[in-house]
Amino acid sequence: MPGALAPSVKERLTLVEADAALPSDFAADVRAGLTARTKRLSCRYFYDAEGSALFEQICALPEYYLTRAELSILRAHADEIIAGIGDDAALVELGSGSATKTRTLIEAALRAHGGVRYVPIDISRSMLEASSRALLADYAGVEITAIAAEYRAGLRWLRRRPEPKLVLWLGSNVGNFGRGEAARFLRGVRATMSAGDALVMGVDLQKSRAELEAAYDDAAGVTARFNLNLLERINRDLGGHFDLDAFRHRARWNERVGRVEIEIVSRRAQSVRIDALALTVAFAEGEAIYTESSYKYSPAQIDELARAAGMFVQRRWLDDQERFSVNLLAPLSD
Ligand code: TRP
Repeated sequence: MPGALAPSVKERLTLVEADAALPSDFAADVRAGLTARTKRLSCRYFYDAEGSALFEQICALPEYYLTRAELSILRAHADEIIAGIGDDAALVELGSGSATKTRTLIEAALRAHGGVRYVPIDISRSMLEASSRALLADYAGVEITAIAAEYRAGLRWLRRRPEPKLVLWLGSNVGNFGRGEAARFLRGVRATMSAGDALVMGVDLQKSRAELEAAYDDAAGVTARFNLNLLERINRDLGGHFDLDAFRHRARWNERVGRVEIEIVSRRAQSVRIDALALTVAFAEGEAIYTESSYKYSPAQIDELARAAGMFVQRRWLDDQERFSVNLLAPLSD
């Protein structure tokens, strides 16, 4: 239309809050986790504004090969991935974060179709807004419906929207679920998909202890700060009195189970008060708070996982050092 103004960033962005009541969950979860016999804190609380920023730094660390390996695969195969979907398919991303890697697929969709709807779902509202605005400023052909939600609420929202889609679940986030849990979650993803839809899933592969432990315990100490930020968040949001110097970060490869185990370890015997919970937590020297698992897969295990979720691996691509995999999953017909 001659003379018409291009739609503004604001006109092309819809922000949906699909989740409520996170702060109260935080208090209840911290109480349950720190009064359990084996102490634990849920990894969903890593990603406040500070934690999300630290995670972006992790992705750029020399030891954290995952992001670069995945990006190299997406760069090499973005056009092929996009060629498999219709021109009306939305790109839906679970845990979109900064959406840096997603740009490869958005650009491929723009090359193929001239325009694309992007539906990022992320737990961090601040990250979601910032990444959406950056994408809209860079790509005139993109429209965004951004969903501020945890995975489960995000999937509930998706189930009400049966439009054609390519679902993206990158960053080996599947590894932060137990293997059975991962299959259950993927069945939930499958339930949002119709025939013709597909899922692009980035999955880290099993490799040597040295490489894996370095990836989760970098020399610069960024991952340690990311992990200990959970304690800082308790201090900030719940009136906790954790002395961060009295705890340390630990990441160990458990080869038998096939996962990296990430913990916060108390350097000495100590008691910590959390005012908002009216709770004092006692720690023995060396006692751990379990914060995250990062499961690593073999190609055969990925096939098995897909099948358990009612899907199959249509294509799998590896990076040139065969450290990481990007898998294109399609629904098995029901
Ligand atoms: N999904 C990422 C992974 O498992 C999350 C992550 C990276 C992470 N580094 C971490 C979680 C350190 C906790 C601690 O690779």
